[in-house]
Amino acid sequence: SHGISVCLWLGVLLCPALSQRTGTPATTWTGRLLVVPMDGSHWTGLKAVAEELGHRGHTVVVVMPEVSMRLDSGKHYITKRFPVPYGPELLEELQARNTEALQSTTLSLMERISSRISSFKKFVHYQQATSEGLLLNQELLDFLREQNFDALLTSPAVPTGAILAYNLSLPAVYMLRGLPCGMDSISTACPDPPSYVPRFFTKNSDHMCFSERVLNVLVSMVEPLICKAIYWSFEDVASRFLQRAVSMKEILSTGALWLFRYDFTMEFPRPLMPNMVLIGGLNCAIRSPLSLVSAAE
Ligand SMILES: *[C@@H]1O[C@H](CO)[C@@H](O)[C@H](O)[C@H]1NC(C)=O
Repeated sequence: SHGISVCLWLGVLLCPALSQRTGTPATTWTGRLLVVPMDGSHWTGLKAVAEELGHRGHTVVVVMPEVSMRLDSGKHYITKRFPVPYGPELLEELQARNTEALQSTTLSLMERISSRISSFKKFVHYQQATSEGLLLNQELLDFLREQNFDALLTSPAVPTGAILAYNLSLPAVYMLRGLPCGMDSISTACPDPPSYVPRFFTKNSDHMCFSERVLNVLVSMVEPLICKAIYWSFEDVASRFLQRAVSMKEILSTGALWLFRYDFTMEFPRPLMPNMVLIGGLNCAIRSPLSLVSAAE
């Protein structure tokens, strides 16, 4: 099946990476990988992998919007940009709103909630526009289809890459820290008992007292609603693109491999499916010195 072949495929690619980080590529077989990254901090880990695989002689193509915060070209991969219907000022506004939300302590609770909701709407709108920029770009899709990729690597938090992999019938490799409202467990049918898997944003650990357990169960009961709110706009894009009604669970359930930037020793143990692999803190792979400005402040 897809899962097993991608496991083997990535094994071939990554095992030499673990044993010898530098030097000449150990494999002569080369593959073709399509990368659909998400903007922001998610890019750090994906970029490290794209660079390393490109360096080892594989063909790596990264598709990204023309306007972005962090997405950039690299030495060892090919960059393919697509137009989007917004300019850099939208990203600046989103960032400014984020900073504002973190600093605003003078606002009342209701004001904070309504400002959060309006920011969230703007963010969803921006993600939807980016997703459509890629999925409704016929010329780009035809180009990608012709490339005969072996696999697609993406952050599933914004499911554009997952939707694309589904359409191109490519095995999808997801790299993630986790998904809101237990979407990873739902779509892989992985056991996720609220009795000992702490829910997002509850600040619970896997050792819960009675009241924490009650909170955990209550949050797990409203999670399906939160999921709907977060993913409905993508379900809309996906349904229009694939020309049939499709749920996010259905799209994500086709993922071949889930690479979690997570480790039991740092957090808490939880059940995993056989195609889920813990890879730890890949975000530390690309380092840069602290900027003098922040050091001086
Ligand atoms: C992929 O998308 C096209 C529309 O862009 C659609 O016609 C086709 O059926 C889709 N294929 C799959 C496998 O979903």
